[in-house]
Amino acid sequence: MKDQKLSDAIRKEHEQLAREINYHNYRYYVLDEPVISDVEYDRLFRQLKQIEQEHPELETLDSPTQRVGAPPLKEFQNFTHPTPMLSLDNATSIEEFLEFHKRLQKELDIKKIEYLVEHKYDGLAIELIYEKGLLTLGSTRGDGVTGEVVTHNIKTIWTIPLKLTGEIIPDRLVVRGEAVMFRKDFLELNERYVSEGKKTFANPRNAAAGSLRQLDSRVTAERKLRMFVYGIGEKMGKGYHFKRLSEVYEQLKKWGFYINPHILVTDDTDRIIEYHKQWEAKRDFMDYDMDGIVIKVNRFEQQAHLGELTHSPRWSLAWKFKPKEATTEVEDIVVQVGRTGALTPTAILKPVPIGGVIVSRVTLHNQDEIERLDVRIGDTVVIYRAGDVIPKVTKVIIDKRPDRARPFRFPDRCPVCGTKVIKPEDEVIPRCINKRCPAILSESLKHFASRKAMNIEGIGEEWIQKFADTGLLKDVADFYYITRDDLLQYDRMGDKLAENMLNSIHKTKNTSFDHFLFALGIRYVGEHLARVLARHFPSLDDLIACSHETLLNIHEIGPKAAESVYQFFQQKENRNIVDKLKKGGVRIIYEKPQGQSLKGLKIVVTGTLENFSREEINSFIETNGGHALTSVSKNVDFVVSGTSPGSKIQKAREWGIRIINETEFMELVKTGRTK
Ligand code: IVH
Repeated sequence: MKDQKLSDAIRKEHEQLAREINYHNYRYYVLDEPVISDVEYDRLFRQLKQIEQEHPELETLDSPTQRVGAPPLKEFQNFTHPTPMLSLDNATSIEEFLEFHKRLQKELDIKKIEYLVEHKYDGLAIELIYEKGLLTLGSTRGDGVTGEVVTHNIKTIWTIPLKLTGEIIPDRLVVRGEAVMFRKDFLELNERYVSEGKKTFANPRNAAAGSLRQLDSRVTAERKLRMFVYGIGEKMGKGYHFKRLSEVYEQLKKWGFYINPHILVTDDTDRIIEYHKQWEAKRDFMDYDMDGIVIKVNRFEQQAHLGELTHSPRWSLAWKFKPKEATTEVEDIVVQVGRTGALTPTAILKPVPIGGVIVSRVTLHNQDEIERLDVRIGDTVVIYRAGDVIPKVTKVIIDKRPDRARPFRFPDRCPVCGTKVIKPEDEVIPRCINKRCPAILSESLKHFASRKAMNIEGIGEEWIQKFADTGLLKDVADFYYITRDDLLQYDRMGDKLAENMLNSIHKTKNTSFDHFLFALGIRYVGEHLARVLARHFPSLDDLIACSHETLLNIHEIGPKAAESVYQFFQQKENRNIVDKLKKGGVRIIYEKPQGQSLKGLKIVVTGTLENFSREEINSFIETNGGHALTSVSKNVDFVVSGTSPGSKIQKAREWGIRIINETEFMELVKTGRTK
């Protein structure tokens, strides 16, 4: 009897923890509004895992622990979709869209057609099968008829429910949608891979596809994929009488799927044209890549009437945005020297518009990349530009290679200062190691002043180049020592411009820690790692004084980045620059330290509080340095009790743990003490 009770309590605790974790996943992945810190989340997760290790029977198919990945598979199984996964007919202009509309008007013999319009996501199609509410199979689209089983990877995607929620659960459900990687997650992944010396992905779609086709789902679990649902793959069984696709979406939402909020249902073609225009303008600022809009007849009975062709339904149309791809010629290949001394081959292109921007040069990264692409001067190449990602060459059109095309030979000397370049064995990029190389200096200065670094708005790159060439700026700290007289020496420099420049330098003197670190241009420290470092160290002095091991132990900092940061601050020259910046008036404003009055205290809350919801109090405890726990154990320091407290009070009494009310808790936060 006693055992039974114990396991009931554990079962309950497990259930509550799982529910709590699912709630936080929803806040994080769906709403993008987390209410607890990552650290606290990890703690809850570990707690759940621990319970499951001790009681394996609780490790159910829908437990959040199932999402962290399973041991690797040997190979993928094939899977034939219940009905083929079709593709979409394309349009590229208003005229083509209106033609589609007119054809449908004629065939349906009606004037007004109700359409559902949504984004065309640039990811890869997947299919999920639920049986009795449980996710049992996930597959890729493959060739549309047969795909690959990737259930183990699909389970790691947090926006996909492992178990359907809601009142009515169908016996079987086939859901289709697009797996995508958000741009920020893609950039973060690539930044990390660079610092770990791994090969990076060309765009978020490739990263998403590569992640789903992993035999080891633990790798997928780290890669933050998401899914946008866009339909069901089979007619639903008895009891479901959906008339419209939009009704299906509503139901899918109730079952726990993430449905994109930017969906339009309309019978007005002008609004569709407007929708296309609006999203084409916004596409570069979105969280994810989209390459057009999809227009679907909303009513199923009309869809059925229109029917399908072999490859695409006749009731739907993808209206693409202007291509982000174009072909053009490589006029030359030159070598640029970056701020870290890296020699980067750059293709000079015959200018070509891509997605509304003229592209006239593109980086070729390194010799290996040139060889992989086999790109030569004179070749015709395909250039791709996705969102805010810099353009790149995706392939050479060999058929168009002229006889005069000639391979590029990498110079063995720096094209700017003439110093012999060095290529460490384990690296693909040769470098100029001349500390006085003018190119390294001017690029470091430009980086330092750039928007995401110190953001010195009033001085453009040409002026910076001029100031470097003429010796006014010999290092990054010199910005803060420029005088009005210095500036007035230059041609085309008036009083007003000089004043603007000085003002804009002055405005950057108070800077945040992460911007400052990024501005220093430490190799491997991109925006993201700068933020990680700034969050980790209370001050710059702490970072400068820290050991190599400390850096190595920071999550997300790979060995190369750790080495680079450590070496950077070991060099006296760099420490001198930091001092010179400080003397020049630069002050790092550290983020307001969070209250620490609850530092290290383990606190459990029970019952209803007057001023906080449960989530609010938990995050309040965390931001004040405490740990909000969900269950009482002997390690707990305080139990905060509200009205109608639960059984936790009893447990707290048994363990002799201090029980305080909400007022006493606030006292504790304010003063770090209770009466
Ligand atoms: S509906 C029968 N809706 O585009 C309709 N597809 O060329 C099947 N895609 O392979 C697809 N966003 O991966 C649909 N909102 C959306 C979409 C979408 C992206 C992809 C899908 C499909 C391809 C069709």
